[in-house]
Amino acid sequence: MTTTPHTVTLTDDATGRSWKLPVMEGSTGPNVIDIRKLYGETGFFTHDPGFTSTSSCESKITFIDGDKGILLHRGYPIAELAEKSDFLEVAYLLQFGELPDPVQKKEWIKNITYHTMVHEQLSTFFNGFRRDAHPMAIMCGVVGALSAFYHDSTDIHDENQREIACHRLIAKMPTLAAMAFKFALGQPFVYPQNSLSYAENFLYMAFSVPAEPYRINPVLARAMDKIFILHADHEQNASTSTVRLASSSGANPFACIAAGITSLWGPAHGGANEAVLKMLMEIGSKDRIPEIVRRAKDKNDSFRLMGFGHRVYKNYDPRAKVMQQTCREVLAELGIKNDPLLETAMELERVALQDDYFIEKKLYPNVDFYSGIILRAMGFPMSMFTVLFALARTAGWVAHWQEQFREKEQKIGRPRQLYTGAVERSFVPLDQRK
Ligand code: SDX
Repeated sequence: MTTTPHTVTLTDDATGRSWKLPVMEGSTGPNVIDIRKLYGETGFFTHDPGFTSTSSCESKITFIDGDKGILLHRGYPIAELAEKSDFLEVAYLLQFGELPDPVQKKEWIKNITYHTMVHEQLSTFFNGFRRDAHPMAIMCGVVGALSAFYHDSTDIHDENQREIACHRLIAKMPTLAAMAFKFALGQPFVYPQNSLSYAENFLYMAFSVPAEPYRINPVLARAMDKIFILHADHEQNASTSTVRLASSSGANPFACIAAGITSLWGPAHGGANEAVLKMLMEIGSKDRIPEIVRRAKDKNDSFRLMGFGHRVYKNYDPRAKVMQQTCREVLAELGIKNDPLLETAMELERVALQDDYFIEKKLYPNVDFYSGIILRAMGFPMSMFTVLFALARTAGWVAHWQEQFREKEQKIGRPRQLYTGAVERSFVPLDQRK
């Protein structure tokens, strides 16, 4: 980042006072106006609910060009990473900024694999939940509880402990996700098999049972790994910003990631993949699509086309393209022809992308539009979809968590407000209130 001699001038038309504000330039993307001194110099706050025009931090991890539909992780396009890399390698890239060399990759995989098991007491922790608890509710609880089991890696000022915490979180999320799935099924937990790859191990823990051998399907394992890559990171989205804000107070890494999981759960964010499948199942058949599109356009109807639209992408989400291709591969591998949900999704996309409302508002399919169809075909219930999103996004969350510690000025995040409530007034005793 460079602070340029370039400035912008802010003028208060009421008083004629004006101030020069420095402009900061990144390596690409929009420049930013540095307003860190704005309140001190002008007495004004800026006002940006939803942060539509606000840069909350400087980061080198992910770049998105929403107009062009570009997503880069440390400069590498997402489609190339999905095609040529693997999830643990992308997790390394997000953390350290470069693709690992063979030695670094071997060491990274060893460090992650070493931590795939969870403390045995955590297994009993699950028994406190009802069997029909939503797996995301379980994940919020269990991941936050990790700080009670791994207190040694909660020392955020110890670089080595921070790195171990990252290893533990990336390694244990698949184990905990599979345990949440097994718990709901009433099946025994399956311990990780460290001879398997990351995605293979997750499928093994989720779908194998002690009563019979389980064969890993390499096509499904590759698809699972690709889906993890597509969900690994996405700049300063709601859940990543939540992790950063929680971390700014000095909270331990497990608490920060648990905060990210809770934020991701919302249907406007990571919960959309579950909402998309519910929507496609509710639509039922293609002939109901015109009605659905009409409702999505109706200002008086709160219904939105789930899996469509994005705060940043005003073009096709590059992840959705890869997801659609992966969907075809998985359905073909499973011998599922003419999947009614995929047919409905493809027709819905075709109709919406030709509709003036969606064209004018630049609403395109996002990462969540096709993912649910794949996950359902692989055998996951809808309630597990956001859990898998959280599993993968942990790689990005911990990378952003670590990046914060490299910042020179680490300040607690503490936004201000536009106050429109009651001004000071005296207390009214109860016997004098009407
Ligand atoms: C993810 O931030 C990230 O990077 C997130 C994510 C990641 O990887 O971390 O990419 C993952 O969260 C993807 C998004 C998943 N959510 C959904 O698919 C839910 C459906 N989409 C929307 O709710 C919405 O598009 C958002 C929440 C995703 C974005 O909303 P914004 O940026 O706040 O935009 P907006 O709500 O102001 O919408 C702009 C206009 C509005 O119309 P007007 O008020 O201007 O008339 O577009 C309309 C909206 O009504 N609109 C939609 C719509 N999305 C926006 N209309 C119908 N259907 C939709 N899906």
